[in-house]
Amino acid sequence: MTEIIDEEAVPLQGGRITSGVVRIGDTVRRPASTASPFVASLLDLFGNRGFAGAPRYLGPDQTGRDTFTYVPGWVPARFQVWEDKQVAAAGALARAMHEATRNSDLAGQHQVVCHHDLGPNNAVFQDKMPVAFIDFDMAAPGSPLEDVGYMSWVWCVSSKAGAPPVDVQATQVRVLANAYGLAGPERDVLVDAILERQARNARFWGEVQVGPKTVEATAQQISDRVAWSRREHEHTTKHRKVFEDALE
Ligand SMILES: Nc1ncnc2c1ncn2[C@@H]1O[C@H](COP(=O)(O)OP(=O)(O)O)[C@@H](O)[C@H]1O
Ligand SMILES: [Mg+2]
Repeated sequence: MTEIIDEEAVPLQGGRITSGVVRIGDTVRRPASTASPFVASLLDLFGNRGFAGAPRYLGPDQTGRDTFTYVPGWVPARFQVWEDKQVAAAGALARAMHEATRNSDLAGQHQVVCHHDLGPNNAVFQDKMPVAFIDFDMAAPGSPLEDVGYMSWVWCVSSKAGAPPVDVQATQVRVLANAYGLAGPERDVLVDAILERQARNARFWGEVQVGPKTVEATAQQISDRVAWSRREHEHTTKHRKVFEDALE
């Protein structure tokens, strides 16, 4: 890799958490964090087990920033309405990612390693289809439902006025669950997993407001995210039966 001076660094917008993410040539540089060692091991595991839907970890650069391969394509900046085939591709990609971590030291006593932030904003699209996930800072051992619950919410469910009708949203949650291959008792509690994650999101942003400043967001933006998470939770609760019936 030819060393490129930092003046050629292109800031990467769209992220909501980490400031200072830049592209240099075919690499991405990201400030190191306490998550760095786990993320490095996880991306190595993906490479060793043949999962190609994630960047490769290339090590720290001269200034200590984490270096990743740049995945060419488009990363959506905000939530929007997706087509069923895009949702299905995201579900299948998440399943392949989880399978690459099953029975690994990193998953430990848990079923898999979860990404924990699998929104479209952390997916790279090529030809309008999601082909890779990025931003593994929140990854940790966990249960598939943690990721599939969150994905169902942020890819398919919305309380916004302009969102598709609830039955269309519910059908799309089924598309996601089917593409992932979620079955049996786990499928029966998918709506619970969605609700849990919506409630947790409100708590997460509430905690951010009083914790050390780790996020580039104003107090107003943070309280807007709390309010939005609550509205989404109310929406899912209100239409719970529609979502559950679609999954049957
Ligand atoms: N490996 C990568 N390949 C392509 N684009 C990336 C990569 N890593 C980050 N980006 C871009 O940088 C943005 C912010 O990076 P991300 O790791 O998601 O940080 P944040 O914690 O701010 O969400 C992403 O939305 C994406 O546009
Ligand atoms: Mg991100």
